[in-house]
Amino acid sequence: MNILITGGAGFIGCNFVRYMLERHPEDEIIVLDKLTYAGLLENLQDVKDKITFFRGDICDGADLENMGDIDVIFNFAAETHVDRSIIGAGVFVKTDVLGTYTLLEYARKHDVKKYIQISTDEVYGSTEKSSFKENDLLDPSSPYSASKAGADLLVKAYHKTYDLPVMITRSSNNFGPYQYPEKLIPVLILNALQDAPLPIYGEGKNVRDWIYVLDNCEAIDLVFQKGKRGEIYNIGGGNERANLEIAGLILNELKKPKNLMKFVEDRPGHDFRYSLNCEKIKELGWLPRYNFKDALSYTVKWYVENEWWWKPLIK
Ligand SMILES: NC(=O)c1ccc[n+]([C@@H]2O[C@H](COP(=O)([O-])OP(=O)(O)OC[C@H]3O[C@@H](n4cnc5c(N)ncnc54)[C@H](O)[C@@H]3O)[C@@H](O)[C@H]2O)c1
Repeated sequence: MNILITGGAGFIGCNFVRYMLERHPEDEIIVLDKLTYAGLLENLQDVKDKITFFRGDICDGADLENMGDIDVIFNFAAETHVDRSIIGAGVFVKTDVLGTYTLLEYARKHDVKKYIQISTDEVYGSTEKSSFKENDLLDPSSPYSASKAGADLLVKAYHKTYDLPVMITRSSNNFGPYQYPEKLIPVLILNALQDAPLPIYGEGKNVRDWIYVLDNCEAIDLVFQKGKRGEIYNIGGGNERANLEIAGLILNELKKPKNLMKFVEDRPGHDFRYSLNCEKIKELGWLPRYNFKDALSYTVKWYVENEWWWKPLIK
């Protein structure tokens, strides 16, 4: 089977490429990535001889036509950083919505056998107490999550209108190797390593449900194999932690003092808590395997040992 992974040079994408090479050695892995600031060929350095790589834009139909026969599409490609979406929403609407539309059109025209859209828990918005189910209302807060919600609606519409064999995964916050150093966990690790202040939004009480990236990869693969056409699957790590707790754990791990934490002005429209009900994916047979604290300490170690990767990115 020819499997297209868009955004395969980004954080989750590159981990998923490795995962698929190991789990499905019989398949051809094709990566299409625009190599924006967040996409790095270095992320695929160790597997470059095992994949076919195209530099291209998911918004450009002509780039898609260059790739030969494709059986399955996993769409990871997106603009992904909430703070950047607050400063400039245009590229988020373009990549996340128009790019998804362009891929869906390609999938429809070429009778792609499965199309898997990688979405996020942020499309549901914030919740104080309950956990969101797949059919709950979408109530995104940032231009990033609104663009991802728009893409999800298009994907659903292509299933209903054209019977396109689509599935959507909505995962919680991922962490692990190769995450670009603008996202919370790498920022905290790298600042702590350099004895720089660890910026904490507001009072640090915002809660995210953290999932180790390989647990997410396994769940996405399971949806690909056993998921039902037209369905959405939540994928949560079951590790709800306040940002303050995450910062504390990282400082402990690196044996740095707590007074490195620095409270900064909160992000506008900052969602307080994300939480997912994951019964549906559990019924497919998935459970997160990685222990949160062990995976966090492995991630810290990865950044400590891979200065070659992050040093050039934090100039
Ligand atoms: N990181 C998370 O915690 C998280 C959680 C839930 C869902 N997601 C979703 O997972 C996907 C991957 O997230 P990530 O954290 O790996 O993102 P990332 O920002 O690390 O990587 C995005 C990748 O997409 C590529 N890209 C951007 N625009 C493109 C375009 N127009 N054409 C082709 N490639 C393009 C970039 O070059 C990069 O390689 C995204 O769709 C994101 O919304 C991420």
